[in-house]
This record gives sequence, structure tokens and C-alpha cells, in this order.
Amino acid sequence: MIRTNNLQKIFRTEEIETMALNSVNFEVKNGEFVAVMGPSGCGKSTLLNIIGLLDNPDGGDYFFDGVNVAKYKESQRTNLRKGNIGFVFQSFNLIDELNVFENVELPLLYLNINAKQRREMVEHVLDRVNISHRAKHFPQQLSGGQQQRVAIARAVVAKPKLLLADEPTGNLDSKNGLEVMHLLSELNQEGTTIVMVTHSLHDAGFAHRTVNLFDGQIITEEVKKQLGEVLH
Ligand SMILES: Nc1ncnc2c1ncn2[C@@H]1O[C@H](COP(=O)(O)OP(=O)(O)O)[C@@H](O)[C@H]1O
Ligand SMILES: [Mg+2]
Repeated sequence: MIRTNNLQKIFRTEEIETMALNSVNFEVKNGEFVAVMGPSGCGKSTLLNIIGLLDNPDGGDYFFDGVNVAKYKESQRTNLRKGNIGFVFQSFNLIDELNVFENVELPLLYLNINAKQRREMVEHVLDRVNISHRAKHFPQQLSGGQQQRVAIARAVVAKPKLLLADEPTGNLDSKNGLEVMHLLSELNQEGTTIVMVTHSLHDAGFAHRTVNLFDGQIITEEVKKQLGEVLH
């Protein structure tokens, strides 16, 4: 599904130049669940943002479904992202002024899906993440675990091919964290390809494979389980 070839990203400020990604060759197959680990500042979020088409690399190639998108303009990236890629962040990033239903509905508005179909899709996914009973609540009225389940619902409501999660359990206690990991694992078994950044070896245990980053480079890879059913 995705493959990078010598991916490079450099951040320049007036004082310093940081090589955030240094010749990264990273591949994810359809149906895989991949964990990305490494110390703070090693480039994990930078890699996820480029894979998620939120940012461009400074060098190298990025193939998304066989197409090199490394030099895509922002508008092209936005178009490709819509409906194809869902994001989940450590800090949930829900919109406080919108209730649960409206937060989850948001990506469907950008896809110009009609109101009846939107309602069906939102209700279905809220049910899927066991949060239907909170549809009218606002994010601040929910626990962290519930907020993250809403954020996951928002990320997958449009049935993206690829779900990217940047430390999704980082702000959760172990019980809520485990619930979120079970949910991600189930979504993967239902066919969603997942790339997840994590600091937790336990969470990485849910993935097929772990990629270890250090100073912007992949240093080791570890395969835990074979990808059973490869979906096309
Ligand atoms: N927008 C930015 N401007 C300047 N430096 C950045 C920016 N984003 C990230 N960096 C630097 O790039 C490196 C990698 O950052 P990041 O990908 O966020 O690491 P991680 O997610 O592994 O903690 C760090 O040294 C960080 O300070
Ligand atoms: Mg990070």
C-alpha cells in the first residue's frame, strides 16, 4: 500500500538544522498493523505526518498505492487524504464546540455525502466503538478513553484504507489504553491497515511488526506475527 524510498526531511531554523528523517525506507502492506517505536525526537511523528500526507519530504520518494506523491502540492495531498487516510492523535483533537455525533460527522461533510447517508454512517461507527449512548455529549463531558474512542470513530467513519495513530494511548490509563488497543486490533482484523507510533512495548505487541527509529533512521525491524489474510 505504501512504500518510501530514501525518505528525507530536514527542519531548518535560524540556529540549527535537524535531519528528522535520514534515508528512511519504509513499507506497509495492505492489511498490516505496524508499530513505530523510538526515543523522543527520533522522527516518529515526522514520518507519520509525511505518510499521512500532512507534510512533504525534502528528498526521496513516497509511493501511495503505486503513485509517487512525494512532490504533491498541498491541494493534491488534501484530496488524496480525504476518505483514504484517518488520523488519531495522543491528545484526541476533538472539536470542543461540536458534540460527539457532529465531531464524527465532520469528515463526511468534506466528502459531500448526503445527510441521510451521513447519519447512517455515523450511527454505525458510534455503535462500533460503543459510544452511541454519548452521541449528544460534548468532548469535555467524556472520559479520556471515551474521547479517544470518538476520535477513532471520526478517523474511520469514511472507511479509510490507512489509519495512522500517533501515541493513541499516551494520555490514557492502562484500562482505557487496553480498550483502545483492542479496538484498533479489531479494526485491523476487519481490514484497516494501521501504522501506530507508540512508546509502549505492550501496545506494540498488538502489531504484526515493529520498526525501531533512531536519529531519523530505521535501525531494526522485528516481525511478531505473519500477516494472515492479505486484503486487496
Ligand atoms: N516543525 C519543526 N521545526 C523544527 N524542528 C522540528 C519540527 N518538527 C520536528 N522537528 C525536529 O525533528 C526531530 C524529530 O521530531 P519528531 O518527528 O516530532 O520526533 P518524535 O515524534 O519521534 O518525538 C526533532 O529533533 C524535532 O525537534
Ligand atoms: Mg512524536
